[in-house]
Amino acid sequence: MHAAAFAATGIDAEYRALDVPPADLERAVEALREAAYLGANVTVPHKQAVAALVDEVDDEARAIGAVNTVVKQGARLLGCNTDAPGFVAALEEDGFDPAGTSCLVLGAGGAARAVVWALARAGAEVRVANRGEERAKDLVTDLTRSGLRRPAPSWIANRDVAAAIADVDLLVNTTSVGMAGGPAPDGVPLPNDADFRGLPASALVVDLVYRPALTPLLARARELGLRHRNGVPMLVWQGALAFEAWTGVRAPVAAMRAAVEEALAAEGAGAPAA
Ligand code: ATR
Repeated sequence: MHAAAFAATGIDAEYRALDVPPADLERAVEALREAAYLGANVTVPHKQAVAALVDEVDDEARAIGAVNTVVKQGARLLGCNTDAPGFVAALEEDGFDPAGTSCLVLGAGGAARAVVWALARAGAEVRVANRGEERAKDLVTDLTRSGLRRPAPSWIANRDVAAAIADVDLLVNTTSVGMAGGPAPDGVPLPNDADFRGLPASALVVDLVYRPALTPLLARARELGLRHRNGVPMLVWQGALAFEAWTGVRAPVAAMRAAVEEALAAEGAGAPAA
């Protein structure tokens, strides 16, 4: 995706994937201070630890508790989070404006934090449900403490998900259920007695998973004639926003998306979800 972006914009740069064990993280971050680097992305398991190693963390990344992008400002390193704005940018492609909507987020891990933060900041009423209910409670408490107030997100018990679904404008899966090679590749993330048939016909269903392109959740949404998206648009947009932060150049989003789709197709992840 980034190689395609550099090629499309004529920027002489290279995006390299580095496998960094936790013990080497500090050294890897220090190396970014060298003039040659524009910045970095950070992924599992370093999204939290890196915050202590950069010079500054912006408000959004601090509140979410995760840095996924490091941007150079001269020799200074700024930690940011492009997952949250990337998620909202992906929704915009579908003409979905979160303001005033009712959203149900499934999951309470790192991805959920970025999504809940982004939706609530954009003015949505957000409810969070998670297999481990304590974790959903903690997520809501943490985000509320870090300044998410109007409207504040709330958590719901798994037994209440079936009823909550009836007035949902947006359902988002942030769990790894349905992911190829994950803990439950054939599963859907809803608790036992909840049923997608309760979703309003106008609801949008988003699965952050993109391997496979059509997860069991998205397949159900399709059967019911509901609008649905996989995680590719968010993946592309978080990358596009990182690219813009590093380069100051408008991201060639179409080229980046084409590169992602091509790579996934080459992996055999299946055709893009409608
Ligand atoms: P990420 O940073 O990608 O969000 P994570 O922090 O490991 O990853 O979180 C994984 C999420 O998937 C959690 O919400 C997890 O639920 P628990 O908190 O109850 O563990 C959820 N998850 C993983 N496997 C699951 C399964 N088989 N059924 C339901 N939820 C599952």
